[in-house]
Amino acid sequence: MNKRTDLTVTDFDNEDSNTSNNPTFDAVLQARLSRRSILRGSFGTAMTAALGGLSLTACGGGSDDDKPVTGGTGSSNERLLAFGAVAKTLADTVTVPEGYTATVVLATGDRLFSDVPAYTDDGLNTRYDRRSGDCHDGMEYFGLSATGTPDANSSDRCLLGMNHEYITPLFLHANGPTAGANRVATEVDIEVDAHGVAITEFKKTNGKFALVLDSAFNRRITGLTEIEIAGPARGNDKLKTKFSTTGTKTRGTLNNCGTGKTPWGTLLTGEENWSGYFKRATGDAANRSAQANVALSRYGRGEGSSRYNWETAGADDKYARWDITVNTSAAADGTEDYRFEINGQGYMTEIDPYSATSVIKKRTALGRFAHESAAFSNPVVGKPLAVYMGDDSRGEYVYKFVSAANWSAADANPANRVATGDKYLDSGKLYVAKFNSDGSGEWVELSLNNATVASYSTYSFADEGDVAIHSRLAADAVGATKMDRPEWCGTHPTTGEVYFTMTNNSNRRVNPSGSQQGVDAANPRAYTDIKGVSSSQSGNVNGHIVRIKETAGEPGATTFTWDVYLFAAESAASPTFVNLSSLTDDQDFSSPDGLVFSKATGICWIQTDDGAYTDVTNCMMLAGVPGTVGDGSSVTLNYGATSVTTKVGKKPTESTLKRFLVGPSQCEITGLAESPDGKVIFINVQHPGEDTTDVGNRSSYGSHWPGNAGYGAGGNTARPRSATVMITKNDGGRIGT
Ligand code: FEO
Ligand code: CA
Ligand code: CA
Repeated sequence: MNKRTDLTVTDFDNEDSNTSNNPTFDAVLQARLSRRSILRGSFGTAMTAALGGLSLTACGGGSDDDKPVTGGTGSSNERLLAFGAVAKTLADTVTVPEGYTATVVLATGDRLFSDVPAYTDDGLNTRYDRRSGDCHDGMEYFGLSATGTPDANSSDRCLLGMNHEYITPLFLHANGPTAGANRVATEVDIEVDAHGVAITEFKKTNGKFALVLDSAFNRRITGLTEIEIAGPARGNDKLKTKFSTTGTKTRGTLNNCGTGKTPWGTLLTGEENWSGYFKRATGDAANRSAQANVALSRYGRGEGSSRYNWETAGADDKYARWDITVNTSAAADGTEDYRFEINGQGYMTEIDPYSATSVIKKRTALGRFAHESAAFSNPVVGKPLAVYMGDDSRGEYVYKFVSAANWSAADANPANRVATGDKYLDSGKLYVAKFNSDGSGEWVELSLNNATVASYSTYSFADEGDVAIHSRLAADAVGATKMDRPEWCGTHPTTGEVYFTMTNNSNRRVNPSGSQQGVDAANPRAYTDIKGVSSSQSGNVNGHIVRIKETAGEPGATTFTWDVYLFAAESAASPTFVNLSSLTDDQDFSSPDGLVFSKATGICWIQTDDGAYTDVTNCMMLAGVPGTVGDGSSVTLNYGATSVTTKVGKKPTESTLKRFLVGPSQCEITGLAESPDGKVIFINVQHPGEDTTDVGNRSSYGSHWPGNAGYGAGGNTARPRSATVMITKNDGGRIGT
């Protein structure tokens, strides 16, 4: 999802509904300190040569002090980050270091089953419930043995569980969406089906994975697939609809962003920007209680039209469900209309990838918000499991769920994975994070057991299910810390510390007004950055990465310490206010979003979804070898009358942070799945060419990738497509060495 920070139109992706009075700090000045423009045109130190085709672009050189590998199965002379840094580039291709190869393996519209025709480059493809969806996002690897049974150690055969976050309607149809007051039903069917999740089998031959067409494991979950409600909100009054009068099921998983892989081998998929998919007619507020209106507006759904107008496609129930306007002649409990339909979205949803007919469950105990990824604590037998999560909107929060059940080694490969999910994900405690200015932090429980939640004056929770459905309001009640758009998180495989990307925040100010957030220790930057010749953006323009260390390493701890692993910045930006991590040309980046730790090498892969530095470079992926919380120093930002002291992690060197990949034009880099031997990683390129406005003029397209790289039809004039890219090292080594 594009993270433009300067949108002036309705922006369903970065809604701004946290009007609680939770902590902001006094401030008086706004720094205007980015100086990148003085270096425009001189970026890049590494030599870059466009090689074209599927072997893409390469860079040379390594450094003398590359970090030795400390574990895993690599050869004894293997070194982490020994590759040459990839330079920033605007080239419409995937650029990887010399010695690596990037190969496209699954693009939007590719068929998963042979009962539909192969994808064509004309916008005439239908039946996306039998094809790859659009806008590939989070992704997980599930190993398969030679006989097709679950095998966590298999590096030769796998299932990829992949999110299809949203759609690029212009390219899904021959001439974009047909204009008119009502949407064309066949077009809406394509759009709903292009959302959701795909489970696809891949098999390795001669070192390269390829899709297994017609695999019995291949499965599409769409915006219409039936899904069970599980956990404390199951059967809740606020989930009753015409479709499920008992409030126990719903249809579809929407705007799936990040993922998680459970220790028992299932996929968690996060439902992010779902609220804009539903229409709420003008005047609806008058037909709801004050409490109901508080709840809807806290989730960004005031009165207004829907993102794609799916509800206009016809009288069929599958279209009508997208209109949540109260029908005043229907039953007041919601069982005869779709007034509560929106409450069926916003969860962590669990899918067992190893069975194409398995029951799918929304795990409501993990809260309802704009979910990103889900990172598990490293499992310890006899201790609970923690699941870390971010809520991506401006000024939203960081959450943790702690299971009631303690981890049992026997559950690593259970006979019934769905029942194992019931065991660990339906009962437990949900917490929200408070980041204190001294580098400590607290996890505050969100339940009616917490008197502050139970007595909240803004919203009165009916029961624990209501707390789960409205976790943002419960988090407001306890004064959680408003963060700079919490995106993905990842758990370091050896230290157990948890890293959270804060992608950017155009609402952060030194001197805030209205709904803006003031600077604080964990979100200390507010500045103005120049983009291009004449435009500029303000706030925390480039984002940062916060990490936490649980007290005594306990997953159930209620206190932690934190610091900022990296402040994203342009290398030439002010070292005292912006480039606090002293990033160089080979390391600088903006808007960290995806973050995944390699279990094989321990590398922290950082992916960007940026709209700030895109005048200089396309979005990218970097490899980091981080230290630990507290390995750096305290830094004070003096904004005149206001000053903020933050904790900056040890500054990276060229041995510990390096750009590994740059994507094609107008894309975001997202999702990372790795074979257990570390020799193959898959990443996703989302929405290349997304700024295109004229589908009839091919020369105007913002990108022609991956057609221009020889994948699929269309060549150098192809419609752009989101796609999964397999990365291998030419010498057969592990990725990132
Ligand atoms: Fe789906 Fe907030 O990125
Ligand atoms: Ca994203
Ligand atoms: Ca910029």
